[in-house]
Amino acid sequence: MTIRTKLAIWFSILVAVVLTLLAGIRYAGYKQVLQSQKDYSLKVVADILDTSIPRKPPKKDDVQIAVSRMVRDYPDIELKGILIEVYDSSRSIIFISSLSEAERLPITEEMWNKALRRKISLTTLPALDGDASMRILTKPVFNRNNLVYLIQAGSSMHDIDNTLENLLLVNLFLIPTTTILIGGGGWFLTRRALRPLDAVIKASHRISSGNFQHRIEISETSSEIRDLTRAFNQMTERLEASFQQIQNFSENASHELRIPLSILRGQTELSLKKFRSEEEYRKILESNLEEILRMEKIVERLLFLSKADRGEIELNRVEVDGNSLLSGVYEQFQIHTQEKNIHLTLDTDGPALIKGDEILLRELLLNLLQNALTYTPKFGEIILSLSREEEQILISVADTGCGIPEDEIPYIFDRFYQVDKSRSSQGHGLGLSLCKWIVESHQGRITVESTVGKGSRFTVYLPAKD
Ligand SMILES: Nc1ncnc2c1ncn2[C@@H]1O[C@H](COP(=O)(O)OP(=O)(O)OP(=O)(O)O)[C@@H](O)[C@H]1O
Ligand SMILES: [Mg+2]
Repeated sequence: MTIRTKLAIWFSILVAVVLTLLAGIRYAGYKQVLQSQKDYSLKVVADILDTSIPRKPPKKDDVQIAVSRMVRDYPDIELKGILIEVYDSSRSIIFISSLSEAERLPITEEMWNKALRRKISLTTLPALDGDASMRILTKPVFNRNNLVYLIQAGSSMHDIDNTLENLLLVNLFLIPTTTILIGGGGWFLTRRALRPLDAVIKASHRISSGNFQHRIEISETSSEIRDLTRAFNQMTERLEASFQQIQNFSENASHELRIPLSILRGQTELSLKKFRSEEEYRKILESNLEEILRMEKIVERLLFLSKADRGEIELNRVEVDGNSLLSGVYEQFQIHTQEKNIHLTLDTDGPALIKGDEILLRELLLNLLQNALTYTPKFGEIILSLSREEEQILISVADTGCGIPEDEIPYIFDRFYQVDKSRSSQGHGLGLSLCKWIVESHQGRITVESTVGKGSRFTVYLPAKD
């Protein structure tokens, strides 16, 4: 069932319930008012007769005179339809206002009993002629302690029943018609209100077929739909960016793997062309192994990064002494720098404790040093230093290498990004993205300052452990 049909149904049910409740309240109110008006007239008639009939055993004429006087003296009283009957104390009827026997007022034993207890009774009883019921007021008149006579004033409930029946009929017609009209109107309005959703549905269909460029025009005036459209467009933008990223990523990854693979293939094909000496085979295998190691490194790094993206890498956080970490790396790296006649200096300053994963922090420094070594020409200088600034430990790797152009700096931490492919033929552009992940997973940050031709300085800020 569509939202709009559901809304229309709920709307109709609500309207029907509210209208029925209102009609019920109005019906009960009318009934109450009409009945009180009737009771009031009956009471006034009985009171007037009570004061006009002499308080002695009455005669028909006395009552007749009293009634005529009442008609004359109180022209405002609505006497039409009011029947009057008077009984004497021996329960014999002495006056009947109606000429028709069928229009007699019923009197019950209970009324008599109440009367004897000096109580006025007001009851609704079925009329003797079997038509509508009668509202009857019975008033006893006492002279000292003796019941002298009993006045009955009654009126048919026919008029009230009629009015109430008409009201009921009107409601029976009005409630369903109004419900249908309002339900239909609601359906139409919700259809109009929800029309912009069609645009969102159509756009999402287009997107599912791979077209991420599509955006929905934000022209809607109602704020909910505007917000939905905006959120949808933003989601599509993010999807487009991630889709693009995945596409670039797989393109780059296959590209990086293609180079060692084609070298492997070329060398293997060449070695198979003719018979070679053991020495030659050894050389070829050694060179192949190098390519295989390169590929292994790429695949390992990619696996690490994708695990990191999924949050599957758990840090083995321990207390790491920054000074010994740096001197360890320094010792390990010195052989490589010496090979290239590069001067490596270690500069540490005071105790520095870090809470982190030692293996990953070592990997971070080795990557930065490897870059410094790769991008610094012979006889250059690399300085590995550590210092403390308030709550932070600063580790920096500075070199006197080729530097990075300013406009390239924002991209060097992106996966597979290389400033100039020719100057790092051995690299894959993954080292710095790995460094960035390691630093950030330690709640730190990494910055770079660089001047082309002069050198670069990578600084890692890590929270200090006190
Ligand atoms: N110290 C540096 N001096 C000059 N350029 C640098 C330095 N460090 C990084 N770069 C530039 O940033 C790019 C990205 O570095 P990154 O370490 O991510 O990749 P890579 O060194 O090319 O390859 P990989 O580290 O995956 O073997 C490098 O290609 C290089 O151009
Ligand atoms: Mg590198």
